[in-house]
Amino acid sequence: MIKSSFADIPIISFDEIDSTNKYAVLNLKDIQSGFSVSSWIKTVILAKHQTAGRGRLDRTWLNERDSSLLASFIVDPKYFGTMLDTTLLITIINDVLNNLGVNSSIKWPNDLVVKQSDAPMKKLGGVLTEIAGDFLVIGVGININSTEKIEVENICSLEDFGVHISPEELLNEILSEITSNNFDLSHEEVLNLYKEKSETLNSVVRVETFNETFEGKVLDFSNTGALVLEMGDGRIIELSEGDITHLR
Ligand code: BTN
Repeated sequence: MIKSSFADIPIISFDEIDSTNKYAVLNLKDIQSGFSVSSWIKTVILAKHQTAGRGRLDRTWLNERDSSLLASFIVDPKYFGTMLDTTLLITIINDVLNNLGVNSSIKWPNDLVVKQSDAPMKKLGGVLTEIAGDFLVIGVGININSTEKIEVENICSLEDFGVHISPEELLNEILSEITSNNFDLSHEEVLNLYKEKSETLNSVVRVETFNETFEGKVLDFSNTGALVLEMGDGRIIELSEGDITHLR
């Protein structure tokens, strides 16, 4: 384990670990002593490789060594009780990728995707948020190099778009963006930034939850980041979790 920092944000780096999210959740009490007083991001856990990376909906998150950013951001929530801290972080990260020249956008809830003309949407990265006491652990995985050995359909990496950057450099870009702005935004402002970069807003989608499937047009996102869906029969429902497929 190596300890470093960016501005006053501590970074704890591992060569290999099972999951940076799991480490953050299980070791929060110990890590908490190093938290800086005022920052939104309290600590970042970084790894070159994960042996049991966790994905959304109880999936595993695979990576090749040194091929992706694998980082868990321990966050003191600005928007307690909502998912808007994750919404804000993914929006900031998407902006960083756009500034690097990658035309990425956000698929609800928090996938970083690239949509090129008629080709299927490809996933560049994903986010898994877990609650740990009063804090959030927002785990971010972004593919940087080749994804050839990972047998998952429709994924892509920054290298596919001519961006050559190390995981540490990408983390620095993200932390630099976060620390150079105060992001003192209302719920509505966070959602508006998110909507500007949403691939899902106004699309017709299928949403699979644990026990039901819904189809309809995405009208909006609620103040907690839930999907507002207009179904074929005119009913409007809100869904806070699920796996979505874009139909058109
Ligand atoms: C998804 O399913 O799209 C979310 C993937 C989140 C993966 C990241 S990698 C760093 C952090 N540690 C984990 O175990 N998972 C998250």
